[in-house]
Amino acid sequence: MEKISRRNILAVGGALGALGALSVTAPVPWTWSAAGSVAGAGAGTDPRWVWDPEADPLVASLLDRGDVPRVNELLRTWTKNGQPLPAGLPADLRDFMEQARQLPPWTNQGMLATAYQFNEKRGLYLGVLYGLASGMMSTVIPKEARAVYYSKGGADMKDRISKTAKLGYDIGTRNAFAPDGEMIVTCVKTRLVHAAVRHLLPQSPEWSGAAPEDIPISQADMMVTWHSLPTTVMQKLTAWKVPIPANESTAFLHSWQVGAHMLGIKDEYIPASWSEADSQAKQVLDPVLAPTPEGKVLADILLSLGATIDAGILSKPILGSFTRFMLGDKIAGWLDIPRDPVWDTLLRTAWGPFIAVREGLLPLPLVPQAYWLFDEFLRKLALLFLSEGQTISIEIPQINRPS
Ligand code: HEM
Repeated sequence: MEKISRRNILAVGGALGALGALSVTAPVPWTWSAAGSVAGAGAGTDPRWVWDPEADPLVASLLDRGDVPRVNELLRTWTKNGQPLPAGLPADLRDFMEQARQLPPWTNQGMLATAYQFNEKRGLYLGVLYGLASGMMSTVIPKEARAVYYSKGGADMKDRISKTAKLGYDIGTRNAFAPDGEMIVTCVKTRLVHAAVRHLLPQSPEWSGAAPEDIPISQADMMVTWHSLPTTVMQKLTAWKVPIPANESTAFLHSWQVGAHMLGIKDEYIPASWSEADSQAKQVLDPVLAPTPEGKVLADILLSLGATIDAGILSKPILGSFTRFMLGDKIAGWLDIPRDPVWDTLLRTAWGPFIAVREGLLPLPLVPQAYWLFDEFLRKLALLFLSEGQTISIEIPQINRPS
């Protein structure tokens, strides 16, 4: 019965058999040199075989010891970067978290302040890009799609989106990494969640049957997902000709470099510059993109979420059109996104001029109706993806997806 219902769910995305074949992607060897990393050098270990040696055994032990419910309850009260850890945490967890909450020595506070200026100026675009470019891209990153689908959060995507949106929101706040901000807390908690997933997913027969790896979320996988975030966002902003001063562009990268470190990614894998990021992404992100039955279901759920917030302007066909516009026809096709003659054409023809007018690069005395629609859409989406996560508490899962 359980299998049948899972099959029914997966069938939403299309023909299961055919897709199973499509989802097999060749492993991508890691050839990127640590000379281009924030560390400037490294041991050269292939990150496909590196996970999180500090967090993983610790969280596995918390799960085995039955400590997670108590830990989650205590950590609910830990929300600000500068806040002392709550009393009563197991000593090994406390020691780890005290270590994990330290910013890397290469953190540049001045650049983080500039990153905030950038986030403030570009918040609308960032909200839409995190949601529709990065978010939808995650559904065609096979390892991520499967991990998300078969983990606990896969069963409640609305909740999961809010939790993930919290990270996108927190990193863009003025005090993101400052004592009164929340990004360090979010990163350390996420690091614990990822460690739990590494312990739990291998126990899922469904995940084990579908995934090509024995342990999920390697350091290489982390970088793949990282590129779906800042690298993809910056590539889109550049393609849209949004004017970005060089110092803001570097600062935005810096905030995500610090974010990567705080998520447990080793410095030798974190690109030091946008050109290094682009070259790493070309090696590790572009070749792995592929459809999976799980990713299709997740994409369908994501595209339907807007309608539950605002049945009008964020309807599924419009979100679908935006996805096609941002990620291209190939990915839209993988996700079975239908063509929408009106919105597809509008985006193709009017988005460029819309950005130009918005950025003051093109004077246009009479703003057409479509531009107002775009603007309203940007606002609604940014709100959906960037403000939903504000009161969310990220918790260590104890189970996989309940069937
Ligand atoms: C959980 C962000 C990489 C799979 C989370 C959460 C955040 C997050 C904020 C907590 C939300 C929640 O509990 O639902 C990130 C970021 C990444 C990254 C910023 C890279 C820079 C990955 C990768 C995978 C992955 C590479 C898989 C290949 C998961 C899963 C969960 C999770 C399965 C837990 C879902 C659940 O059961 O609730 N991630 N993640 N993540 N992440 Fe990631």
